[in-house]
Amino acid sequence: MGRPYYIAGNWKMHKTRAEAAELAQALVNELKDGKHEYLIAPSFSCLETVSAIVENTNIRLGAQNCACEEQGAHTGEVSVLQLKDLGVQSIILGHSERRHSYKEDDALINKKVKLALKHRFEVILCIGELLEEREAGRVEEVCETQIVRGLEGVDASDLSSVVIAYEPVWAIGTGKTATPEDAEAVHAFVRKVIARLYGEAAAEKIIIQYGGSVKPDNAAQLMAMKNIDGALVGGASLKTDTFVPIAKFS
Ligand code: PGA
Repeated sequence: MGRPYYIAGNWKMHKTRAEAAELAQALVNELKDGKHEYLIAPSFSCLETVSAIVENTNIRLGAQNCACEEQGAHTGEVSVLQLKDLGVQSIILGHSERRHSYKEDDALINKKVKLALKHRFEVILCIGELLEEREAGRVEEVCETQIVRGLEGVDASDLSSVVIAYEPVWAIGTGKTATPEDAEAVHAFVRKVIARLYGEAAAEKIIIQYGGSVKPDNAAQLMAMKNIDGALVGGASLKTDTFVPIAKFS
């Protein structure tokens, strides 16, 4: 096996610079002897502040989105070049809030994925079904489509920079977590899709995070599943009290 666990905190639209600095500094201290891989993704407005704090530590710096073009007349967007300049290493793309509240479709997400990979970022590609899609028995179909379209045109040589985050939309911010067994079934399916697209060896290596109401009291059970390689944590990543126990689960 040999896949590392990768725990990421998505701070969404929370925190001023001072608050972000305080949390980032606390996490640097608490996680310096952590056994897993870590990332925090603050808002664009806090990236510069947090970048200075996590530089040369075991915590990677992530952005929550990027523009689909390198530069130009794109009011309100932030480009990969600007993110690179801030020390960002990884970009979360296709988050369900981007897909559903901001109507990003697979084609747009795919454009961003390819641009981010071209500029040597790690990409955390989020996928996941809505509740009505789950109830209609369409989980695999929805996830497969999001993977296939999201990774269209992505070279096998770039796949080592891709992480998949399975985040059932009905579990995000709701306090409802998928059971470890339900999540594992989808993770195993995701790995199968990657194997079909890129071969068994690549599928064995790819990190698949689970996201959706991950908390200190469910993290270890989720991570015990064979195909769950980490977590993308929203609400519980906003405080050391809740993020550190997840990040240090054993
Ligand atoms: P949550 O969010 O942990 O608050 O459910 C997860 C996510 O949106 O990445």
